[in-house]
Amino acid sequence: MRGTWAAASAREPWAGGNDVEIVDRNPEDARALAEELGGAATAVEPGAPISGEVVVLALYYGSVLEAIEQLGDQLAGKVVVEISNPIDFDTTDRLTVPADSSAAEETQKLVPGGTPVVKALNTTFATTLGSGEKDGTPLDVVIAGDDDAAKDKVASLVEAGGMRAIAAGPLRRARQLEHAGFLNDSLQKPLDSGFGSALKFLS
Ligand SMILES: NC(=O)c1ccc[n+]([C@@H]2O[C@H](COP(=O)([O-])OP(=O)(O)OC[C@H]3O[C@@H](n4cnc5c(N)ncnc54)[C@H](OP(=O)(O)O)[C@@H]3O)[C@@H](O)[C@H]2O)c1
Repeated sequence: MRGTWAAASAREPWAGGNDVEIVDRNPEDARALAEELGGAATAVEPGAPISGEVVVLALYYGSVLEAIEQLGDQLAGKVVVEISNPIDFDTTDRLTVPADSSAAEETQKLVPGGTPVVKALNTTFATTLGSGEKDGTPLDVVIAGDDDAAKDKVASLVEAGGMRAIAAGPLRRARQLEHAGFLNDSLQKPLDSGFGSALKFLS
């Protein structure tokens, strides 16, 4: 996907020297981003096989269903990372998912059977992801999921990018993470931080 988050995530350090495949519903956008990124980034035509082990849905939650329908069985056997903050943009006052669920849990219901969904990076703004740090401090990336091996894989990517991975427990912790991301978004005006703030846990 050629969006803001996708472009930032494909750059060091999050990509951590790994190969990056870019899939977009508009193949021209994927090719343009791959060219812009150079190095190990390549564009994958819609419907063509994805060789990577981890697929990040760098999409608004409203597009996730469409993308999963398009990707279909290509997601089988991958780890799917769901990064959205499903904010109701009409009111900017609530999330669009049921209170007893989350975008990540709803996504888990849509992917091919046995494909683990991991919630991560929804509190990490694209502007900070590019460097992996804020004011010299590595970013915290909180990870939730029901499959330990899948979470470990995502944690390895996060750590390879110089950030701190924090395991938050099962996928239902995504409910709290999505509210944390919502709050982080809501604070941009009072903080005057231009989507450059970061949530940090001091311990
Ligand atoms: N930006 C951030 O700092 C940030 C931080 C944390 C979390 N997030 C989350 O990241 C997600 C993406 O945000 P963003 O800022 O990157 O948004 P964005 O710049 O608007 O990018 C969204 C991208 O999704 C693509 N897309 C939509 N439907 C698609 C489909 N069915 N198949 C493939 N691609 C599709 C769009 O392509 P088209 O150009 O073709 O429409 C666009 O390139 C959101 O859920 C947001 O909550 C963002």
